[in-house]
Amino acid sequence: MANEQDALPVSPQIGDLAPDFQARTTMGVMRLSDFRGQWLLLFSHPADFTPVCTSEFVAFARAADRFTALGCRLMAISVDSLYAHLAWVRAIRDGFGVSIGFPIVEDPSLVIGRAFGMISASSVDAAAMRATYFIDPAGVIRATISYPATVGRSIEEMLRVLAALQKVDAEQVVTPEGWRPGTEVLLPPETDGGALLAQDADPLWFHRTRPDKG
Ligand code: BEZ
Repeated sequence: MANEQDALPVSPQIGDLAPDFQARTTMGVMRLSDFRGQWLLLFSHPADFTPVCTSEFVAFARAADRFTALGCRLMAISVDSLYAHLAWVRAIRDGFGVSIGFPIVEDPSLVIGRAFGMISASSVDAAAMRATYFIDPAGVIRATISYPATVGRSIEEMLRVLAALQKVDAEQVVTPEGWRPGTEVLLPPETDGGALLAQDADPLWFHRTRPDKG
């Protein structure tokens, strides 16, 4: 028998392939899968011409070179129309002297927002939350971070998480609380029970660090 749970949309989770889409953007029609082979930060915002979103866009645009240095492209998305996006990009350029050099996807039908779970089933309007998806070169969602409409993201935190994901992939380590490039990393959890029971086992076997090789 069907119950209420069955009707809930299933949002992609960490480890899932990001749902592909094709859509109009401020830089032409694009597919998500066009970005395969590169990291991609896909981030939604509730609405164009709003204060928090504007502050984030200015900060993302100013940090664009830092994302590029990490091999990561940026792509924004909201339910607003392409024409609203273009007007907002122009207003940001005129008001802040900042060029938005990344594409902004229009999603007026909410198809993309719903496929990613950016818009909750119980939402009273179509405004997507501030969701961020870290998508790896294979198209897999590796991290997600969501904020409410009223709280802006930290672009430094986005860069930090991206660098941490790349670090763990490259060196088979894990990263501690607040890790930043150049600081100590951790070895993955020990699984060899015999080694752990040995007389000379490291008492801190569950927290083994090593310097970051850079
Ligand atoms: C903002 O970006 O400022 C915002 C958007 C939606 C609701 C509240 C604030």
